[in-house]
Amino acid sequence: MTDTLDIKITKAAHSRLAETDFDNLPFGKVFSDHMFVADYANGEWKNFEILPYGPIEMSPAISALHYGQAFFEGIKAYKHADGTVSIFRPDKNAVRFNKSAERLCMPTLPEDIFVQTIAQLVDLDRDWIPAKANHALYIRPFMFATDPFLGVTPSATYKYMVIVGPVGPYFSKPLRVKIETHYTRAAEGGMGYAKAAGNYGSSMLPARKAAEEGFDQLLWTDAKEHAYIEEMGAANAMFLLDGKLITAETKDTILDGVTRDTVIALAKDWGIPVEERRVSVAELIEGAKNGKLTDAFGAGTAATIASVASISYNGEEYFLSDPKTREFSNKLFATLDDIKYGRSEDTHNWNYTV
Ligand code: PLP
Ligand code: COI
Repeated sequence: MTDTLDIKITKAAHSRLAETDFDNLPFGKVFSDHMFVADYANGEWKNFEILPYGPIEMSPAISALHYGQAFFEGIKAYKHADGTVSIFRPDKNAVRFNKSAERLCMPTLPEDIFVQTIAQLVDLDRDWIPAKANHALYIRPFMFATDPFLGVTPSATYKYMVIVGPVGPYFSKPLRVKIETHYTRAAEGGMGYAKAAGNYGSSMLPARKAAEEGFDQLLWTDAKEHAYIEEMGAANAMFLLDGKLITAETKDTILDGVTRDTVIALAKDWGIPVEERRVSVAELIEGAKNGKLTDAFGAGTAATIASVASISYNGEEYFLSDPKTREFSNKLFATLDDIKYGRSEDTHNWNYTV
């Protein structure tokens, strides 16, 4: 554990809290009063500061804009009924933050500093955390290259920032998903396991095409054969097939999701067999046809547990059971909420109290 960080704090002259409509919180559009900023130069992190939320000045030549040396994280903080504030498993995001940094030739940040910076900002803006079911404070740490240089080479300077904002549910209804068999999210040897900005940029065209066909999300498949399920949009894809929880094993094309890991831990607590392995499109379609695919959902921080209503493949749409009646994902959703909002004992020590 590093000593407590020396963070310079400049408070906003005016809080926007009273003007914010907490009954209308579309995901990712509302930001709190403050943001965190630090600079990397000459091989070290410095200028740790919390400032009023607002625009930052940048050179138009920064390499993040041209070559995509940029990545982010996504975490949530929750308000318990007694006013306690907790952040869900930020230590896991700290580890993944550094995996992304290494893949993109960017500097790492000591894990405890990552957690401290987030905790300090959440603490300062704790009044922004909605005290409402399915609502939380979304925390968005990110890093980007700031050298004003157009050579394709790793930058020598970077900015690490954290912004936060109150959010409601990312998805408002069960999803009609399509198995993508042309485009690829990530290939072996690529950077699918990193939360690189470019991974999300490249997903937008396929996602838009699917939306034009009426689908809510894509189920990504492997780059070589398009025969194995990898992820679901910006969430891990998880299935209950023949009584077993199955999901793609983590490898370089898969983001090692914190929610995925949490779901696996709960399933193991409940004695449900878990298989982290290649998940074939064929077995899912077969399971959808014969009724053995009893649950399917995306697992992610923004997505939470996002139920799949139907899976489409090769022009056929297969509807699964009514999501409201699904035992496993409903129990998961309720159990996770009870832990996050402090209503049940946190036996795994997942909540980091601020
Ligand atoms: N997969 C992708 C591509 C994502 O963007 C996310 C969202 O963060 C996830 C999976 C789920 O990860 P986590 O549960 O850590 O949010
Ligand atoms: C998250 O769940 O935190 C994500 O990063 C998804 C996001 C791209 C909306």
